[in-house]
Amino acid sequence: MSMTAELQTIIPHFDFSGELALCEPIMTGHLNRTYRLGFVLPDGTRRDYVLQRINTFAFKKPEEVMQNVQLVTEHLCQAYRKQGRDPANRVLRLVPVKGGGVLYQDDNGSWRAYDFITGARTIDRVDSPAQFQEIGRAFGAFQNMLSDFPIERLYDTIPNFHHTVRRMEAFERSVVADVRGRAASVQPEIAAVRARRNGMGRIVEMIDAGTLPLRVTHNDTKINNVMLDERTGEALCVIDLDTVMAGSALYDFGDAIRYGASTAAEDERDLSRVRLDIGLFSAYAEGFISETARSLTLPELENLPLGALVMTFENGMRFLTDYLDGDVYFHIEGADDNLARARCQLKLLSDMEAHSDEMYAITKALIGKYR
Ligand SMILES: Nc1ncnc2c1ncn2[C@@H]1O[C@H](COP(=O)(O)OP(=O)(O)O)[C@@H](O)[C@H]1O
Ligand SMILES: [Mg+2]
Repeated sequence: MSMTAELQTIIPHFDFSGELALCEPIMTGHLNRTYRLGFVLPDGTRRDYVLQRINTFAFKKPEEVMQNVQLVTEHLCQAYRKQGRDPANRVLRLVPVKGGGVLYQDDNGSWRAYDFITGARTIDRVDSPAQFQEIGRAFGAFQNMLSDFPIERLYDTIPNFHHTVRRMEAFERSVVADVRGRAASVQPEIAAVRARRNGMGRIVEMIDAGTLPLRVTHNDTKINNVMLDERTGEALCVIDLDTVMAGSALYDFGDAIRYGASTAAEDERDLSRVRLDIGLFSAYAEGFISETARSLTLPELENLPLGALVMTFENGMRFLTDYLDGDVYFHIEGADDNLARARCQLKLLSDMEAHSDEMYAITKALIGKYR
């Protein structure tokens, strides 16, 4: 077993049980550094954990992130127990740090550990609508079990994360500043964003008006943040909880559709390949609504498609903003990556608009079926 000197100094600070027998990096993540640790208990059985270094570039206040994660995971565990079900292998469970808390910090970083979800895997692309439905069911169950969470207890770890109206203001400032002199060459894209300005602030407006309640939102509802049973394909556990915050349920639903129900990757340059897969939309919506039909309010359920439109708009606008700013936020490999991403999102958005009536009709039918 090879292990870095760094890990050797971190591991003893966690309350792991048994003798360390395995330590290997997990390469499927994108933001955090993740290791699998295996321990052998005195009776010979194995117990595995994941040890993760929190990306403190993205998360400036790891204590607040961990406080949110702890509250949410404890609530989920209680929800399982109330249903008479065992939360083991279904909820991320934190390993305590010796001396208190769930976060270990040294000069080099911030670390936390979870019980390992066994017999499970993550996927980067769905291979069938049924699989996407199962992912929707997982995020729906997550939302459902957190529907009675005392939302005021969560820290706003990324303030105004989905404040579409503020993001539109930031976009306009970038157009005016035009620090790289790029605005002239992207007039059609700027016009596409501006043309949607009115409708896209609606989620923020409905939150402010009290029409949409604040919920626990995951904020990274990608396919690869649900662990699926290796053999049965059943969704076992929602992972990657660093961005749990208060927000609208529409955000999580919408971002899952934006990312998972597109016929192409987020940065596809051949725009003729970028469309909304309405079959995938329908599958995810069915999984999600089957779990949330009774815990979300009717205005939330009926407006789920708006979430898909707004999240796609917001992403397109953010990519375009970053292109105008000179690529200071999103990582790029090629000079026009952010422009390509913006165009891709705007294309997806216009295809969603073309299928908007269909999305609303499907949603309505599913509400009728499950509520
Ligand atoms: N509790 C866990 N049990 C088993 N594997 C896990 C667990 N948490 C994370 N992983 C694995 O590590 C990968 C990265 O973890 P994740 O928390 O999603 O970080 P990132 O922000 O880097 O995506 C996941 O794709 C998954 O394969
Ligand atoms: Mg992840």
